[in-house]
Amino acid sequence: MLWNSVHVFFSFWDLKIDPVLMVCSMKLKPWETYSADLSIDLKKHHVPATFLDKMAYWMVKALRFPTDLFFQRRYGCRAMMLETVAAVPGMVGGMLLHCKSLRRFEHSGGWIKTLLDEAENERMHLMTFMEVAKPRWYERALVITVQGVFLNAYFLGYIISPKFAHRMVGYLEEEAIHSYTEFLKELDKGNIENVPAPAIAVDYWRLPPDATLRDVVLVVRADEAHHRDVNHFASDIHYQGRELKEAPAPIGYH
Ligand SMILES: [Fe+2]
Ligand SMILES: [Fe+2]
Repeated sequence: MLWNSVHVFFSFWDLKIDPVLMVCSMKLKPWETYSADLSIDLKKHHVPATFLDKMAYWMVKALRFPTDLFFQRRYGCRAMMLETVAAVPGMVGGMLLHCKSLRRFEHSGGWIKTLLDEAENERMHLMTFMEVAKPRWYERALVITVQGVFLNAYFLGYIISPKFAHRMVGYLEEEAIHSYTEFLKELDKGNIENVPAPAIAVDYWRLPPDATLRDVVLVVRADEAHHRDVNHFASDIHYQGRELKEAPAPIGYH
């Protein structure tokens, strides 16, 4: 009886259940997957012009120092840990715009979806890298601490100055591109084993079945370049004294 109702529940939601392990996995729907655009310019850099830009830029540069010191050349682990942070700004910005839309009875111009999509995309980076790098107990503790601090700081920062918040994320993404380029160099030198791509990555980015970790890093790096553009663009809109909803949101820009 119990087994029957469990079975009905899992078939309704298209979940596959392993009767031995009692675990489930959900196949990604076609609209949750995409092919990454690898032609994007990886070198684009927003030259900090104003005091706020420079503050955002140097804040990100300063954050890189302890990160380099902690992870050194463990790029798989570094990527996994950084994705736990990278998935926060889109969710916070999206949520704040969502609440603003409710309060003011107005549309967001697609920006809620754009920012929430970014958060989901970053979370999928994390789901991918946790397949190839297993966090140690003290790294898990660090994630919890960093999330507690960063989420609250970003929340406050976004309320005070969204143009600063988006600019900072733009620079974080520029750093992420650099980190993944270093990751690729280590893979090419053979210092990191080029293992087969995790199944979740093959599904999500529609990669060939024989794709490797190198292919995954290439598509993730392209995603980061797209996030860089979205966030610098959002900051520029605020710099022009306009609200995000006044400019078309880059929906589906991967
Ligand atoms: Fe990411
Ligand atoms: Fe990103």
